[in-house]
Amino acid sequence: MQAIVIMGPPGAGKGTAGAHLASGNKFTHISTGDRIRHEMRNTASPLGRECRPYMERGDYLPDEMAINFLREIIQKEDSSKTLIFDGFPRTLPQAKALEELLKEFGGELKAAILLETDATTAVKRIDGRRICGACDKVYHLEVKAPRVENVCDECSGPLIKRDDDEPLNAKSRMRNYLIRIQDIITHYEAKKLLFKVDASGTVENTAEQIIKVMKEIS
Ligand code: AP5
Repeated sequence: MQAIVIMGPPGAGKGTAGAHLASGNKFTHISTGDRIRHEMRNTASPLGRECRPYMERGDYLPDEMAINFLREIIQKEDSSKTLIFDGFPRTLPQAKALEELLKEFGGELKAAILLETDATTAVKRIDGRRICGACDKVYHLEVKAPRVENVCDECSGPLIKRDDDEPLNAKSRMRNYLIRIQDIITHYEAKKLLFKVDASGTVENTAEQIIKVMKEIS
């Protein structure tokens, strides 16, 4: 089981790049944010109920909760594919836990990719983002509009704005990111796993740069 992580501020395009790469079938895209939103939609899920207050405030889940959640995800994954983690790790303890978990399942972290973009671009992306309320597919009002206004191309579900994309919550997510990211960067730099990618261009351009990194390390 090989893995890479994609990191970056809210709106950098982590989920979009991860989904783009996974469309080729060699990679599995694991977005902890998407998986948590999926749990939250299931009113019978105790985990979904537990996560809701954190998500609604734009706060991170406590490390223990996030790590246990990731363990459950990893053990169900197809180990022949490269896993792309988007949204994990968010803290230094999570970074260390991910390496331990991968080792436990016979895997290894090959690269930590940091998507870099300026704040104005990230805010514009968050502002225009809509997601399908049924299947979580991500759209953008200008850059990636659905074929039919407010209707998901894949499942015909309704397009909605994420609760945590409201400006106050988005600011809180950005603050949380900025407080914790430097420790993670330092950790991955020391392990020579860190690769920086300019994410201010098109989706294809960002994905190409990530593929280049993956070729370099393989
Ligand atoms: P999560 O959903 O991961 O939110 P985030 O990290 O804040 O990141 P975003 O989803 O906002 O941005 P993104 O970089 O994925 O951008 P996207 O590709 O959608 O997590 C949400 C919450 O879950 C957290 O706040 C926390 O509460 C909880 N959580 C998750 N993981 C956790 C963990 N490990 N520990 C604790 N808590 C955790 O793109 C944004 C928009 O821009 C889209 O509309 C897209 O179409 C558009 N776009 C993307 N790329 C481009 C491009 N190159 N050009 C033009 N438009 C683009």
